[in-house]
Order: sequence, then structure tokens, then C-alpha cells
Amino acid sequence: MPGEFPTVRPRRLRGSERLRTLVRETRLHPASLVLPLFVVPGRGKAEAVASMPGVRRWSVDRVGEEANRAFEAGVRSVILFGIPEGKDPTGTHAWREDGVVQAALAALRKDVPEMTLITDVCLCEYTDHGHCGVLHGEDVANDPTLELLAREAVSHARAGADVVAPSDMMDGRVGAIRRALDQAGFERTPILSYAVKYASGFYGPFRDAAESTPAFGDRRSYQMDPANGREALRELEQDLAEGADLVMVKPALPNLDVIAAVRAACHVPVAAYQVSGEYAMIKAAAERGWLDEERVVDETLTAIHRAGADLILTYFAESAARRCAWR
Ligand code: PBG
Repeated sequence: MPGEFPTVRPRRLRGSERLRTLVRETRLHPASLVLPLFVVPGRGKAEAVASMPGVRRWSVDRVGEEANRAFEAGVRSVILFGIPEGKDPTGTHAWREDGVVQAALAALRKDVPEMTLITDVCLCEYTDHGHCGVLHGEDVANDPTLELLAREAVSHARAGADVVAPSDMMDGRVGAIRRALDQAGFERTPILSYAVKYASGFYGPFRDAAESTPAFGDRRSYQMDPANGREALRELEQDLAEGADLVMVKPALPNLDVIAAVRAACHVPVAAYQVSGEYAMIKAAAERGWLDEERVVDETLTAIHRAGADLILTYFAESAARRCAWR
């Protein structure tokens, strides 16, 4: 009504940082952030990744430095990706006892004993063709791949992984990995399933870092079509039925609706992966002075958390943890 003052004034609670802090609905906690780490063969290495400024590929003897910095900032978990010594059609380096991830697990357990060590379980870094499983002709053969993924997961558990995280998107891999872990005596090792993983353009920089670009074709015959939301729930149900202990949605920012739907549809912890392209996009704009990096990192991570992700995998984990510890 003209001349009348509004009785409802949401701005009352926005008037000072004290009040904003009091009524903030979503808070990031450093322990909810998971830092991805790339590990390469050799010694003394900290190689820059061109498309991911600030991210490095560490050799086993130095990866503890980076993990320790993150730990001091409050980060309590890392996820490891290995770039192996050699590649072949079936990715045999993935389950070698002296493999790069296996060695990194031992080093990190010693250097940062309290850090939770998660490993990405997939074959694309280990196969010479760069696909996430073995090939029959040009097709990625589902069932023969399951046994190899299971072997890789058991090898990671044996080397000290606290959690294994299959990212390959083969049908039935959670069940196959669960059975193999149980048979090998690792019935207490949880599986974080990349349950909802879209075939995304946002993985580009990661594939540079991990040297895992497919030699031909793409991953659309196994990763999900970004157009599909209902199918995400179908993948979720299947992975839960096969024994997934935690589930992930990836990439994060383009799929906030899916994160919210997954959060509502299950009762296990939900993770979301702010992937390499999401990182690169923010870094590139910030470098040009077009975006304020800290603001948009905090805003995107908060939005991903608000949508329903309990855990967030992010290359910004260390710097974001330093800030959110105080908010
Ligand atoms: C392996 C894997 C990928 C990512 C995580 N695990 C790449 C892919 O599927 O091509 C992407 C992570 C990122 O982009 O940061 N399959």
C-alpha cells in the first residue's frame, strides 16, 4: 500500500556481518573438502599442469609436501590419481604392487598419518588407448573390465587405501569390487561410487594432467548423457543395491539439480566433484581480472553444499579450507 512501511524486511538480517553470520544456513567445513592429487613416477617432481594453474603432478617422494599443506589448512582427505610408468591394452600397471598409486599410499600414510586416503579406481590412465576398460574392437567391453577394476581396487586396499572410488561407469562394478574386497579380507573398506558421472566437456584439463584422453572416440557409451536426470536416480539405486557406501555426482556446478535429487533419494553420504574444467574456468577468468577468485570459489562451493553435497572434491580444497575455517 502506498505510504505504508513494510513489516517484513528480510534486509534486517543482512545489515551486518554479525547478523549474516548468525543466520547463515550453509557453512563449509574444511573437513568436507577432498583434495585431488596427481602422482607421477620418478623423484623430486612437482610438474605444473598448463590448463590447471596452481595444480601440480607430484612424484611419490614429494606428494607428502602438498598433502601436509592441505592438512594444515584443515583438509582431512585426498583422492589419488596415478600416471603410471607404462601403459598397455589392459592397464596392468593399475594393480602392480609397486605401482605409482600404491607407492604414494605408503608414502602418504607415513608423511600424513591422519589423512584419509581415497583412490580413484579406473583404467583410463593405465590403458594405452585411454578408455576406461578393455576393448572388443572399438567397444569398451563391460564384463571383462569388471575383474580388472576389482583387481585394481583390492591392490589399492592392500596398499593402504581407506576408501576406493570407482569412476569407470561400467555396469555392475560396485558389486564386483565389493565381492573382491570382501574375499580379500577388506570387508571394512568403503566404496565411494561415482554413481552419477556425466560425459562432460569439463574433464578436458584433467585428461591433460592424467594423460588419459581417449585415443579414439569419446566416453559417451559408458558415461551418462548430461540431458538425463531420471537416469541419475537409476544409477544411484543400482550402486546402492550393489553396496556403495557413499555416492558421487560429477561434474558439480552444472548438476546442482541432480545433487539435490540424489540427496533426497538416499541416506548415504553424497559427494560432488568440482572437476578440472570448473577449476580452470574460474582460474582463467580470475587471471584476466574478470572474476574475483576467492568470492566465486566460496560461492560455488557453498552452492554445491547447499544443493545437498556433504563432501566436495575440489582442486581449491586447500585455499578454500583456509578461508572457511574462519566463517
Ligand atoms: C577417470 C576420471 C576422470 C575424472 C575423474 N576420474 C576423467 C574422465 O572420466 O575422463 C575427471 C576429473 C576432473 O575433470 O577433474 N575416469
